[in-house]
Parts: sequence; structure tokens; C-alpha cells
Amino acid sequence: MSAPVTLPVSTGSASYEVVVGEGLLDTTGMHVSRLSDARACALVTDENIRPLFGARVTGSLRDAGLEVTEVVVPAGERSKSWAAAGSLLERLARAGLERTDLVVALGGGVIGDLAGFCAAVYLRGVDYVQLPTTLLAQVDSSVGGKTGVDLEAGKNLAGAFKQPLVVLADTQTLGTLAPVEWQSGLAEVAKAAMLAGPEQLEWMTRHADSLVAREASAVREAVLRAVRHKIDVVSADEREAGVRESLNYGHTLGHAIEQVAGYGVVPHGIAVAEGMRFAARLASRLLGAPADSGEAQERMLDSLGIERPTYPGDVDALVRAMHADKKARSGTVRFALVPEPGTFVAVPVADEVLVGELRRWIDDSEEGR
Ligand SMILES: NC(=O)c1ccc[n+]([C@@H]2O[C@H](COP(=O)([O-])OP(=O)(O)OC[C@H]3O[C@@H](n4cnc5c(N)ncnc54)[C@H](O)[C@@H]3O)[C@@H](O)[C@H]2O)c1
Repeated sequence: MSAPVTLPVSTGSASYEVVVGEGLLDTTGMHVSRLSDARACALVTDENIRPLFGARVTGSLRDAGLEVTEVVVPAGERSKSWAAAGSLLERLARAGLERTDLVVALGGGVIGDLAGFCAAVYLRGVDYVQLPTTLLAQVDSSVGGKTGVDLEAGKNLAGAFKQPLVVLADTQTLGTLAPVEWQSGLAEVAKAAMLAGPEQLEWMTRHADSLVAREASAVREAVLRAVRHKIDVVSADEREAGVRESLNYGHTLGHAIEQVAGYGVVPHGIAVAEGMRFAARLASRLLGAPADSGEAQERMLDSLGIERPTYPGDVDALVRAMHADKKARSGTVRFALVPEPGTFVAVPVADEVLVGELRRWIDDSEEGR
């Protein structure tokens, strides 16, 4: 077992560490005592994760002298709702959590976003710790301080920026993930690779078989690479005034697919990978991006075995969903495009152009099946 690696993050509002390694869940109490004066904490997790890791984390926190209240929510995106946030806030209050106490998020992106959001608003803000247990959460959602819940009108429409006290990414937890969740996470690692540049893209493609097989050393290296990239971006732009928008790569169409299909039907990463494929087409058509850039991305996604989703609804429904998403500005849908690996441009796309491009893309995709 290799030693954990600690990566420092420094944003305008906070400095903290992301620790990546094996067996870190057992060190939760030690890290909390090092960083906080909390007397009590709420351990927020979901019903799948609790039987796998709940006892270890609770034990570690209790050994460090903390009083622990466990809050278990149903698994899945439906728990990232306004109603679920309301119930969780009531639970925090009933548990008597005080201003210096702590919320501990043990789980995937759903738990991190929900628990982080409640930590941001409970008593106008208490500290929270991220213990991400999905690949997606380790490489993306646990770092950078975006928290929030979905509204009926769209994903993540209510939220807050709230940086965690520490992120402990225990890569050993990833062994129990369902294959579809693994693919979903690999898509976010692939997104980071496209944004980071040709070297990372080439590394991912070369190690695709090891990553698909979840070989420990390749997984750890992929997590470290993606986290380093995310840290660079969020340190430069905490509140998405500029380069952080690049992290939306693949998400404009991706979120629309998720929403139109009904949350939870198309996994987040599968939708994002499809969004990346469409974005590559747009980059070529609108910006004249070189063909080999899109082809390199395609090779990476294929070698990772990332499936393509079945398109839900019609093009108009997808475009309506894109307008409801936070990424539309002044009534125009925006796309993060990567004309070549390591470069990024945010491009507003008028509806007439978007509808035509999307229709052609879906027709071509269906022909190719
Ligand atoms: N805040 C951000 O910056 C950010 C970035 C990207 C994505 N997100 C959000 O993250 C969410 C998706 O996160 P996710 O893909 O982690 O989904 P998730 O949290 O729903 O987890 C996926 C499934 O895996 C299960 N699971 C979690 N860890 C497990 C483990 N170790 N072993 C076995 N099963 C396990 C969960 O119970 C769940 O059923 C979306 O809501 C998305 O919007 C947020």
C-alpha cells in the first residue's frame, strides 16, 4: 500500500487539503481532531454506503471523542432535492449540532452536494468534511466547493459555494462500485484529461485497460491527475467567472439528457461523455477544430468502454432543458468547447444553429448504431 498523497487547495475563501490514498476512512477522526474543535458531528450517507463503510467512519470519529449522529438518506439523485435538504437540516437541528460542530459527507456526489449545501446554510454555515466514495466524487464533485440540490426546473439550481475542511479520497472504497458508476466516473476523468492537455489524454488512452480493470496503481494515478487538474482550475477561479467554466465541458448537453430522460435514468458520466462527443462536433463545425483532436477524444472514450446513451425525447425538449440550466446566459445556451486538448473556449450558440446541429448529430448517431 503506497503512502497517501496530500494536495493543497487554496481558493479566495479557504485553504484545505485533498488527501488521496488507501484506507483513509479509518483516519477520519484523526483528521477532524487535527482541524476542528467540533464536539459532535452528523455523518450523512446513503443506504447503500452505510453498510459498506458507515461503521468504520463512525468508529474512527467516536475514537477521536466526537459524538456522532448518523443520517441515512435513500441512494440516488432523488435525494439531491429541496425536500431532502429540508429534512436533513431538521435532523441537524434535532441532533443539537452547534456552530462549531461538523457535517461529514460519506458517499458519492449526491451526498457531497446535499450535505455540503446543508452545511453551507445550517446556522449560516458549519464546517463539513468530504469522504467521497465514488470515482466521480473523488475526481470532481468533492473538490472545489460547489454544493447544491436540484429543482424541478433543472439540476443544481439551488446551491452555495462552500469549501470543505478537508477531502479524504480513500481509493479502496471504489472496489464496490457498480460497473455503470465506474463508467460514469471514468467519463469525468476523461473530461479532465481533455482539459488538461495531450499528455494526460495520451496517458488515459494508454492506461484505459488498467482503469477499466480498476487496477489500484492506475486508479490512484488517474485520481491524482484529475484532482490536480481540478485544483488548478478552482484555485484560479473559485466562483466560475472564467476558466472554471471549462469544467462544464460535456455538461451542457449532458445535463439536458439527464433531465429529459428523468433524473437517474441516464448516469451522469454517460450523459457527460455524450456531451463531450457532441461538443467535439461543435468545435469542429463552429471553430474549425482539427479532426484529430475529436478523434483522439473518441479513441479515449471508446478505449474506456464508455457507452452511448439512447436519446430521450426530442431535440426541442433537449434545447428547452439547456435553457433552464444555469449555463444559459442572456437567453443563449453556452458550450464549453475544447478545440484541441488543453485549450478551452466558452461559446454561446444561437438556438437556430443548435437545433440544426443537434438534429444532424442525433440522426448521424442513430445511423451509426
Ligand atoms: N459539486 C460538484 O462540483 C459536482 C461535480 C460533478 C458532479 N456533481 C454531482 O454529483 C452527482 C453524481 O454523483 P455520483 O455519480 O457519485 O452519484 P451518487 O452519489 O448517486 O452515487 C452513485 C451510486 O453509487 C452508490 N455508491 C457510492 N459509493 C459507493 C461505493 N463505494 N460502493 C458501492 N456503491 C457506492 C451510491 O449509493 C449510489 O447508488 C450528481 O448529482 C452531479 O450533479 C457535482
